[in-house]
Amino acid sequence: MVDSPPPLPARRHIIANAIALAPTGLALVVLVWTDALPLWHAAVAFGAVAFATAIFVRRYVLSVGRFARFVEALARGDDPEVPRFVLSPAAEELAGGVAALTRLWRRQRDSINALSASAQAIVDGLPDPLLGIDRSRRIVRFNRAARTLLGPIETGRDLAATLRQPVLLDSVDAVLGGQPAEEPAEIVVVGPPERIFAAHITGLPRPTEDGSSVLVVLHDMTALRRAERMRADFVANASHELRTPLASLVGFVETLRGPARDDAEARERFLAIMAEQTGRMRRLVEDLLSLSRIEQREHEPPTGRVEVGPLLRGLVEMLEMKARPRDVTLSLDVAAELPAVTGDRDELAMAFQNLIDNAVKYTRPGTAVNVVVDRADDSVRLVVHDQGEGIAAEHLPRLTERFYRVDTARSRQMGGTGLGLAIVKHVLNRHRGRLQVESVLGEGSTFTVVLPAGDFSTGPENFAAPKRHDISTTKAVV
Ligand SMILES: Nc1ncnc2c1ncn2[C@@H]1O[C@H](COP(=O)(O)OP(=O)(O)OP(=O)(O)O)[C@@H](O)[C@H]1O
Ligand SMILES: [Mg+2]
Repeated sequence: MVDSPPPLPARRHIIANAIALAPTGLALVVLVWTDALPLWHAAVAFGAVAFATAIFVRRYVLSVGRFARFVEALARGDDPEVPRFVLSPAAEELAGGVAALTRLWRRQRDSINALSASAQAIVDGLPDPLLGIDRSRRIVRFNRAARTLLGPIETGRDLAATLRQPVLLDSVDAVLGGQPAEEPAEIVVVGPPERIFAAHITGLPRPTEDGSSVLVVLHDMTALRRAERMRADFVANASHELRTPLASLVGFVETLRGPARDDAEARERFLAIMAEQTGRMRRLVEDLLSLSRIEQREHEPPTGRVEVGPLLRGLVEMLEMKARPRDVTLSLDVAAELPAVTGDRDELAMAFQNLIDNAVKYTRPGTAVNVVVDRADDSVRLVVHDQGEGIAAEHLPRLTERFYRVDTARSRQMGGTGLGLAIVKHVLNRHRGRLQVESVLGEGSTFTVVLPAGDFSTGPENFAAPKRHDISTTKAVV
């Protein structure tokens, strides 16, 4: 059904007619007044003019009405046809102009909408949480990362309701108060996991459309701080480990130069201790170098072919020399038809040697250490079992950290550097292997290594899938 135009108010007709007829009426009055025209002539003439005027005025007023409705339709967002105004070309021109203006405005509005959508998409795509804060410190905008970190965020609420961090709030207040932004404030967002963020606060030159006057960007510093702490710990540990034997060497050198200069028996004893201490320092430096070499190559898949059985036979033979004085029996059981693994022979030897060496070191004297190698699905599995004191559950997750020792004094006395299991971890990472530790206090520990067996038929590239298996430790059964 076509909407009929609303009736035009009569007042508009009367006023328009009155205005149109006023000059004619005035002229006729003057003509009658000066007797230039008889009254009835003037009346007839006025009547004729009034009739014609009424017709034209009606059409004109109607077209103004149509023009008004056309503009209203444009304002509503419709797309009406430009009306034709036969008797009013100016109105038609005006309507055409308004339509063109509206089209331009709509194009601009669409591109502003698109721009704003892409701006939000960009802000959402930022990995760092971002919050837009208005002059009254209310959150007016946030991105996806902010929502992921802080949970549901309500816009229009004070920043303090979302982030109760006095340092951050003070900095935001300062920037809102016109002060220049300070160094990023460091805040801790409680977890789990607990995370450390540097809060960058930037004052905007003028408020944005959504009212943001200040932007808060949170940059995750957790990994960096952890790495810094690990580096500092590592340097402290490494220097401490080197300083201890070095201090004892310095002490013995002084004693040998002074009070024990002529004591042959003391000299022999001290030299033996000094040889032991230098050996320890050499082992430490060698282990540190090995660790650093393995770490450097950790992301290069190994390409060698290693037969685990013969490798272990050699290692067990060598370690038997260490086991015998402790009255420890070392047994090796290698399954038949064991597949080869793709790996670096020297690195695997280093890892296996450390595991068996630990078992020999920490098992109780007079007990047995069993080494079993077999096949499990597409993997080769090495199990090293000892009958030592075992390891308490709280130590298990930290065993592969550098210099971590359950009993530092005992491990030192055994000549350990605390780097062995860290080396094992990095070797296995490179070999996509897995380490599992099970331990029963008072009964012993079982260290299991699972290595994927290599497929040599299609070349080593099959093996090169960058999949990493991290060390997993199972809970100790206490
Ligand atoms: N089989 C085991 N039984 C009991 N504790 C063990 C065993 N293996 C390792 N540990 C504990 O884990 C710690 C770390 O072992 P890791 O091999 O890294 O160092 P280490 O043997 O002391 O020294 P390194 O191997 O560098 O000579 C050891 O100090 C020891 O406390
Ligand atoms: Mg060790």
